[in-house]
Amino acid sequence: MTNLVYVLNGPNLNLLGTREPEIYGTTTLDDIAGMLEDRARDLGLEIEMRQTNHEGMLVDWLHEAQAEGARAVLLNAAAYTHTSIALLDAIKAIRTPVIEVHLSDPKTRESFRHTSYVGMAAAMTVEGHGADSYRIALEAVASGAV
Ligand code: DQA
Repeated sequence: MTNLVYVLNGPNLNLLGTREPEIYGTTTLDDIAGMLEDRARDLGLEIEMRQTNHEGMLVDWLHEAQAEGARAVLLNAAAYTHTSIALLDAIKAIRTPVIEVHLSDPKTRESFRHTSYVGMAAAMTVEGHGADSYRIALEAVASGAV
């Protein structure tokens, strides 16, 4: 197994910083990538940070994470969290542990966000801590919690 951790981000997260800042804050995805790279270095991990607006791309990247021997995947599937049986199946299809990540806490928001297909197969969920959700998830990987 490698020290590589895939950090996969779904739709609309490329607009973090300006997108609904009252919910998601003003931190950009590049800021999060920089923060995670620094933290990963301290923890002896390496991150592969990606974002796509396309569901099937996330499926392909989950398969790739396993093929590359990644230690874990941090997955913020954004709205696909609540709709995608394809992502649920992909997480079940790979042995690489997946941590579900969200900036906000979807369980305290609209009822259509209360179902998480990703959460049905994820090893752990970290949500509601803003950008820190990613850091907490990375630290969980480093500590061997997943
Ligand atoms: C999100 C929560 C989702 O419900 C929403 O669709 C997103 C972002 C979050 O990080 O809080 O796009 O995944």
